[in-house]
Amino acid sequence: MQAVILVGGEGTRLRPLTSRQPKPVITLVDRPFLVYMLEWLRGHGVDDVILSCGFEPTKVRAALGDGEALGITLRYVVEPEPRGTAGALKYAEEQVGLDERFLMLNGDVLTDVDVTAQLAQHEATGAVGTLGLVPVDDPSAYGLVLCDETHAVAGFLEKPAPSQLEGIDRYYISAGIYVLERSVLQLIDADRNVSIEREIWPALVGHGLYGSQADGAYWMDIGTPERYLQGTFDILEGNVRTAAVQRLGADVTIAAGAQVGSLVVLGKGVTIGEGARVERAVVLDGVTVEAGAELTDCIVAPGATIGEGAIVRGGAVIGEGVRVGAGNVLAAGIKVFPDTDLPPGSIKF
Ligand code: GDD
Ligand code: MG
Repeated sequence: MQAVILVGGEGTRLRPLTSRQPKPVITLVDRPFLVYMLEWLRGHGVDDVILSCGFEPTKVRAALGDGEALGITLRYVVEPEPRGTAGALKYAEEQVGLDERFLMLNGDVLTDVDVTAQLAQHEATGAVGTLGLVPVDDPSAYGLVLCDETHAVAGFLEKPAPSQLEGIDRYYISAGIYVLERSVLQLIDADRNVSIEREIWPALVGHGLYGSQADGAYWMDIGTPERYLQGTFDILEGNVRTAAVQRLGADVTIAAGAQVGSLVVLGKGVTIGEGARVERAVVLDGVTVEAGAELTDCIVAPGATIGEGAIVRGGAVIGEGVRVGAGNVLAAGIKVFPDTDLPPGSIKF
């Protein structure tokens, strides 16, 4: 089975994690994020994946290669300019030729949705397209999907305004997981930017578009630091079905008297100094945490140094190679960009 995964976005909301590494391959626990998606798809019979990229994917290619290690053929298609979510699919068609029925996915979701069940429903209804749906409390950042009792889509509202939510008692959103017949490609104009959410789904309402509700599944768009952290904790706690992960990398050094909590990822070569405390935090490869420093609810990118007694908490994201001098207090979602040198005691919240 063939799948097209869209990975053309810049991942701006995840900066500075994505300042040096593209979103698809930033490390999540112990592997490039996209590997979770590929492992999950492989488990549902996908063996041929086209990555639709918005810019030259050198770093993605370096991290994922040709997919052989995962039992998948991985191909890369690079758009000449951003074509939008449907335009990207159209452009991939010209490059590779898609099978009669294929999967299409947004490349930023951590999920264990049962795609096999979605495919079965797609066949049973004779759909042209079947959208995987998950329930959420707040649909405002997503595509809200209304279905009738036969699972046919009755309405698709991308990023709905509050006034559009009146009278709806349960919100199902598009999970960014689609089963599509090849005929959908005929609806997409070539050579221009086309949004699948704003142009193609609305056009297909009443013409073979169905929704497949995945109620018990795990699903998370990892596109913000808060959700990246939540996704990490959910993997560590086993809330999402993934292959086994390692939360401590090779060559980690933890000094006597340091405290490392359970919801912590320590990458390769991380050093934790005496009396330091780390809890609910992601500390990536080669980071040094000096004596007495405290890290909670934060992300520290590769090669950064957290100075003596410094405190990093409250959703802070510390970029690659940053040096946080002794005694700084970084909180309230602060983002420190790569290679910044913060002198001792320069920031306190
Ligand atoms: N190749 C390519 N070209 N990829 C793109 C482009 C493009 O022009 N634009 C966006 N993408 C990729 C992004 O990298 C991402 O993986 C995916 O398409 C979706 O784009 P986002 O920018 O993350 O969209 P969103 O999260 O606001 O909304 C989408 O996802 C929701 C679920 O997370 C929509 O599909 C919603 O309907 C859906 O509910
Ligand atoms: Mg997204």
